[in-house]
Amino acid sequence: MKALSIPDVLAEVAVLVKPHFGKGRPADYIPSLAAVPGSKFGMAVRTVDGGEHVIGDADEGFSVQSITKVFALGLALNRIGDEIWTRVGKEPSGTPFNHLSLLEAEDGVPRNPFINAGAMAVVDVLMKVTKDPAALVRDFAGFLCGERLEIDPTVAASELANAWQNRAIASLMRGQGTIEHDPEAVVAAYCRQCALTMSCRQLARAFLPLAAGGFSPVAQETIFPERLTRRLNALLLTCGIYDSVGNFAYRVGLPAKSGVGGGVVAVIPGKATVAVWSPELDRFGTSVVGTAALEAFSQITNCSVL
Ligand code: DON
Repeated sequence: MKALSIPDVLAEVAVLVKPHFGKGRPADYIPSLAAVPGSKFGMAVRTVDGGEHVIGDADEGFSVQSITKVFALGLALNRIGDEIWTRVGKEPSGTPFNHLSLLEAEDGVPRNPFINAGAMAVVDVLMKVTKDPAALVRDFAGFLCGERLEIDPTVAASELANAWQNRAIASLMRGQGTIEHDPEAVVAAYCRQCALTMSCRQLARAFLPLAAGGFSPVAQETIFPERLTRRLNALLLTCGIYDSVGNFAYRVGLPAKSGVGGGVVAVIPGKATVAVWSPELDRFGTSVVGTAALEAFSQITNCSVL
């Protein structure tokens, strides 16, 4: 990274993103997310050597949604191991995160663990070891950021009441044998998992093992073997931003995961994590201002891995 201090970089980024507000729209297919003001903006950087820097609404909790899929996958790979790869692929899908078309054409095997189908297959795998996978994911994320976390029951219920697309995906996968449990139970657990509330500061802390070779400086514990850490980052780089992952790699050049709550977390391997939150989304379900902020951060600090 260049000589500019991280607080200076964050201040500059906050100015550079201003023209990007108003270009996207908060998610409305989960009604309770539509109520979050589009003007929110927070960003947090956590370095592997203990630095922590925040700006804006970085301590305000928001619905992290698909970002939880990274915690769930890490847990499943740690607890159950490579069996997950018999149910889910490792390729970008090139289709929206909630599509069914490829799933039917490809024998019910989701392209990757981050599209909704793949994430529900991971939930199904976690149901082998616990009755409440969402609580397991919540507690794992909480352990990683050193704080107790909550699932927002209103957001979970709001999504479950409207989860017709996800029900179709889960039913298809049950029919094809990709998942073993009742599809309705899998969808309910998945919606609960997605309704986890975290702040940018907490996300930056919780993702730190992916920047630190698998070690969590917060928990003072090795979370993932080094090889798994590299593999998780590879999946984030190729599949973390769904069908706009190529554009994201072009602009930002970092492994990252988005969520429809407007959060995006990026990993700078060996150095730091950067979490940003701004609820207005592009048509791919990624934060417009969040992407612009990470692009600016990456350019100013020259931290792209590519
Ligand atoms: O299943 C859904 O549609 C949401 N619970 C999560 C989708 C999501 O966050 C996609 N990410 N940008």
